[in-house]
Amino acid sequence: MDPIIRIKNLTYTYPDGSRPALDGVSLDIMPGTFTAVLGSNGSGKSTLAKHMNAILLPSGGKVLVDGMDTIDEGNLLAIRRRVGMVFQNPDNQIVANVVEDDVAFAPENLGVEPAEIRRRVDAALEQVGMYQFRLHAPHLLSGGQKQRVAIAGVLAMDPEVLVLDEPTAMLDPRGRREVLRTVEELCRERGITVVLITHHMDEAARADRVLVMDAGRVALDGAPREIFPRADALRALRLTVPDTTALLLRLRAAGMPVPAGALTPEDCAAAIWEALR
Ligand SMILES: Nc1ncnc2c1ncn2[C@@H]1O[C@H](COP(=O)(O)OP(=O)(O)O)[C@@H](O)[C@H]1O
Ligand SMILES: [Mg+2]
Repeated sequence: MDPIIRIKNLTYTYPDGSRPALDGVSLDIMPGTFTAVLGSNGSGKSTLAKHMNAILLPSGGKVLVDGMDTIDEGNLLAIRRRVGMVFQNPDNQIVANVVEDDVAFAPENLGVEPAEIRRRVDAALEQVGMYQFRLHAPHLLSGGQKQRVAIAGVLAMDPEVLVLDEPTAMLDPRGRREVLRTVEELCRERGITVVLITHHMDEAARADRVLVMDAGRVALDGAPREIFPRADALRALRLTVPDTTALLLRLRAAGMPVPAGALTPEDCAAAIWEALR
């Protein structure tokens, strides 16, 4: 299988920047996978995300989306259709006064025919669990609901990849759970490729793969159960570990034979139970 996104030795310096925001990033994203991107503020996460649908173009190196080079202007529309972006602030992403009009906005702009738009809007709202709110005013919804409407707006373009840049940063715990559950379902049940930038370790723990950015480079890259037990390496990158990992590492330090890679609360509890028996 070919990667859906291929990044080769990508460097990027902002027009007014002195040092590169991205400095030799190479990575492949395989179709249908769930990748979490971590890293302290200013490490280059958003700059990387914006290269995945040609909002930014490389200063050096290459970004290929489904084999299409982002630097080639003729590929722009096709790339934007394949890779949808969701940003941090749901209020900045609302463009209409009724939920279903908001979701229809992008496909309308793409010139999709009305019957197909109707079908896509309904399907997208169903997928994010917001169909019953289709005639509501978006600005009266909760943060989590607004983000799910924003995700539906991207889904209505029928994308292959969903790139989310800290979509839960402004949400309360309930909104975070709603959005994360939605994103996971889209990946696991619909096969949509997900790239999730987050500050929340428990969200990253649910991914197939964790990329940790530092100073414009990929510092760590691996499965969550390989990355999170490396608490010292993460601390050096100014990151924490999930609560489950922190607990297991403390128990290990105290001499209890538990595996450090049990990440979900359920696996963590089972590992402790097993060690206690
Ligand atoms: N629009 C911009 N103009 C100039 N420099 C920027 C701009 N956006 C980000 N940067 C710089 O690029 C680097 C990476 O930023 P960013 O990708 O936003 O990091 P992150 O999303 O990980 O916080 C930082 O040093 C930041 O100050
Ligand atoms: Mg950012």
